[in-house]
Amino acid sequence: MREVKFFSGENIPLEMHKVRMVQRVYLRPIEERAEAISEAGYNTFLLRNKDIFLDMLTDSGVNAMSENQYASMLQADDSYAGSETYYRLEGVLQDMFNMEHFLPAHQGRACEHIISRLLVKPDSTAIMNYHFTTTKAHICQLGGKVEEIIIDEGLEINSSLPFKGNLDIEKLKNSIARIGKKNICFVRIEAGTNLVGGQPVSMQNMREVSKICRAEGITLVYDASLLSDNLYFIKIREKEFADTDIREITREIGSLMDIIYFSARKLGAARGGGILTSDQEMFLQMREMIPLYEGFLTYGGMSVREMEAMAIGLQESFDMDIISQTPIFVKVLCEELISKGVPVVTPPGGLGCHVDAGQFCSHIPQEKYPAGALSAAFYLASGVRGMERGTLSEQRNPDGSETPAHMELLRLAFPKRVFTLSQVKYVADRLTWLYENRQLIGGLEFTEEPRVLRFFFGRLKPIGDWPEKLYKKFRQDFGDSL
Ligand code: F0G
Repeated sequence: MREVKFFSGENIPLEMHKVRMVQRVYLRPIEERAEAISEAGYNTFLLRNKDIFLDMLTDSGVNAMSENQYASMLQADDSYAGSETYYRLEGVLQDMFNMEHFLPAHQGRACEHIISRLLVKPDSTAIMNYHFTTTKAHICQLGGKVEEIIIDEGLEINSSLPFKGNLDIEKLKNSIARIGKKNICFVRIEAGTNLVGGQPVSMQNMREVSKICRAEGITLVYDASLLSDNLYFIKIREKEFADTDIREITREIGSLMDIIYFSARKLGAARGGGILTSDQEMFLQMREMIPLYEGFLTYGGMSVREMEAMAIGLQESFDMDIISQTPIFVKVLCEELISKGVPVVTPPGGLGCHVDAGQFCSHIPQEKYPAGALSAAFYLASGVRGMERGTLSEQRNPDGSETPAHMELLRLAFPKRVFTLSQVKYVADRLTWLYENRQLIGGLEFTEEPRVLRFFFGRLKPIGDWPEKLYKKFRQDFGDSL
């Protein structure tokens, strides 16, 4: 996607691709949406796709693939051991990050499982800019702890800072001094910090963190799942790199890290995952775990067709016209919402538009899940499925008390090259309507609450009859329109 100057003087985002295969979607009337969200226990994860108009739950595994990715799938070498597909993918990744060893795993959290088993000891601490749900769950399952050292601005909803995902260098030094390097299992940098609004990390920051970790002998792990958005921001927001080829930027990142892992459901626009390292000893220890938990070393639990598509998708991540679509759409939607007074995380990041449910639903206390309620209410109002990223996505403390999230967000993710500008406008319109009627939205309470990662399968019910009130207001304002 590219922003092009129109005769009117406006900069309009233009898609740099054409659509050659489509999926029919349905916008169900609000009566059916009310039934669907109630059946889903007011949890958007439990909705069925047939009831969804625009699926903005995630960009994971749902990015549009290119013709070259599909074509590559035909040459997949389907053998249990020694598949040529594996060697092709290994070659692409070694070249991309300039690292020696590649280990395949079936998705990002499988990489986290293996890396955690390698490095986490009971009571050890993993220091990171910010946790991701599955990352933290794997570390904690093994008795480890997580310490977050994102810069203070990273947790402020609104800021003009270009790299809100950066690690605070002073906090890093203090944490190392306080915890002691022997008790630190690793430092982790997450590209495009997921849970705080898809905010990028600068190269300058990565260089500084790497220097400290190398001086202290602490393993530095890089979660590259959201790398393509982060590369786009390094290129356009970090002056030094304005003229640097994205390949070179990526190789420099590789040179700073000890272990890199990624979800190929995001990076590479396919489905799968992988781990890279140049450290022979760590490689050998992790390699032992691949056949045990994933599959033989040359497929690691993935379909070889997906591996071929990933190899092409990874190379396409070096094309600014391809990786720019999500950040540009996020910007367009954020700017439209800001112009209507709807509170969103700024500056606009990657991954999706993050609506500030804390402010949107300031009348709902955190223990009644304002972001969860907003996600359910927005589906009701629009047929669009977003994802709660707030207290509901946290885990309770051992004594049963809630862990209030730093931010209460409704994430509207942009799978790459899936939606059009008119669909983005529809999202902005319905969200603006909901904002005007925000007082009608009420809280939620659990009826079924799983112990681990409760946001996936948890079922809830509205406190009071707010969905009904919202539905009536919708009918009043939109007549019999969908
Ligand atoms: N790390 C980050 C930064 C992620 O965003 C994800 C997944 C993972 C690790 C785990 O990868 O899903 O392949 O096991 N994020 C998805 C999302 C689920 O919707 O944001 P996975």
